[in-house]
Amino acid sequence: MKNIKAIIFDAYGTLFDVNSAAEKCKDKIGSKWESFSNYWRTTQLEYTWLRSLMKRHKDFWKITEDSLDKSMKVFNINPNMKSQLLDLYKILSPYPEVKETLQLLKEKNYKLSILSNGTPTLLNELVSRNNLKVFDDIFSVEEVGIFKPDSKVYDIPVKKYKIEKHEVAFLSANTWDVSGGGNYGYNAIWVNRNNIIFDNLDYFPESQINNLKDLLDII
Ligand code: LAC
Repeated sequence: MKNIKAIIFDAYGTLFDVNSAAEKCKDKIGSKWESFSNYWRTTQLEYTWLRSLMKRHKDFWKITEDSLDKSMKVFNINPNMKSQLLDLYKILSPYPEVKETLQLLKEKNYKLSILSNGTPTLLNELVSRNNLKVFDDIFSVEEVGIFKPDSKVYDIPVKKYKIEKHEVAFLSANTWDVSGGGNYGYNAIWVNRNNIIFDNLDYFPESQINNLKDLLDII
């Protein structure tokens, strides 16, 4: 991959494990914890897309809570657990290879940043609680008041760095976000952590890796 000037990471699902909050409560939730966690994530994302289409933006933290409320009802989870799950969502764990890979990329002098649906407060807390202070910038959709995959979001780093779209290596484990960034014009790289099938949304990433560490071989 040539002429890359910035490496930009999606946050939720790419750097941070969105299932780690429910997983930490699996003793209390029981064997349905994973289905519940997947449902919560899907509902959260649906709410971002729907709110963008309805032009009724609410920040990602409120959406995380709204989607949790619904998911807890659907899965019949004790309402007492709500605050614990939300607190854990604020300190999601990074995937195992994340810290070391970011450090190695930093040593190679790449500009590193995050571009995420999360609010600035959430993202800053996740980064500092997990001691991942390698980022030049943490870009939040709150700057433009609409969620991914609106092109206004993908525009944020291109405008800030005054670079061409194709000079961005954009990494996401969320297939729809890879499609969004790729259709926008980024060099989008799919982090296919779970060996799943890609979308049919007019973009197929040239590069696909199983975890972030593999990025070191292609960049
Ligand atoms: C984000 C969501 C897409 O971090 O995971 O933007």
